[in-house]
Amino acid sequence: MNNRLGFRPAQNHTMRTMQNANAERRERTTRETGPGRMTLPEAPRTASPVPWLTSIHAREGRGPYGNPGYRGNCSGLLIEDLLNFYRPRRVLDPMQGGGTCRDVCSALGIAYQGLDLRSGFDATRPGAFAELGRFDFIWMHPPYWRMVRYNDDPRCLSNAPTMGEFIGRLRAVLRNCQEVLADGGKLAVLMGDGKHEGRYMALPFRTMRAAALEGFWLAAPEIVRFGHGSTSSSKTYATSFIPRLHDVCLVLERNSRRLPARAS
Ligand SMILES: C[S@@+](CC[C@H](N)C(=O)[O-])C[C@H]1O[C@@H](n2cnc3c(N)ncnc32)[C@H](O)[C@@H]1O
Repeated sequence: MNNRLGFRPAQNHTMRTMQNANAERRERTTRETGPGRMTLPEAPRTASPVPWLTSIHAREGRGPYGNPGYRGNCSGLLIEDLLNFYRPRRVLDPMQGGGTCRDVCSALGIAYQGLDLRSGFDATRPGAFAELGRFDFIWMHPPYWRMVRYNDDPRCLSNAPTMGEFIGRLRAVLRNCQEVLADGGKLAVLMGDGKHEGRYMALPFRTMRAAALEGFWLAAPEIVRFGHGSTSSSKTYATSFIPRLHDVCLVLERNSRRLPARAS
């Protein structure tokens, strides 16, 4: 990415004329299009095998992974980067939807188990993961509560009647993940947000709180994943608001000091 707007320093014309022209052009550009494309902050050099993986995930495209037509699907590129970083041996996706994580694992030669309510697996059921064995990485991309309705199944997280019920079900899935996550294993939860009855739901924050109550803590900074090419970006709205261009990935690990469970 670059952050240049195409301004060149004055050379042959008088400095004053150029400065005026530049100021006018800058004002016009800013008024019409904002400050233009911006660079990401410089990342420090580390020993990471994936040096471009930072707390801002800006890779464009989705990679040749999963079913791009599956509603609410995500790009495979963040999953690819996380798997190349953590190098797990066995991955679970308990809400696999269109199979994005499945295809990334297949490309990277990582053993994978994928399940979904579509095939009758209810990830909220206590003990549902008991027969699955251990995993050192779990990818979890739940519905963003009611933003996409996947079916009429009352067990689906998208059909939870209230926010409290949604978070309660999410906690049940997190609890199941806790039981099959190997020591040192990571659980990555991707969560977006939107409005319900005129108010932002703050789902990533609620998810972090639910995870902490289930004994998880952040293993890495929260990752802001840019939503390149989302369906809403091509729309025009008559109202004025701050568009949301990202979702948030929480990479979690089990907290050694388990917090006492409390009601959500
Ligand atoms: C956001 S989609 C996952 C999309 C997937 N990451 C992809 O790229 O295609 C959420 C999925 O969660 C599944 N789901 C919802 N409630 C569930 C439950 N109780 N148990 C298992 N899967 C559930 C839905 O069927 C849906 O496929």
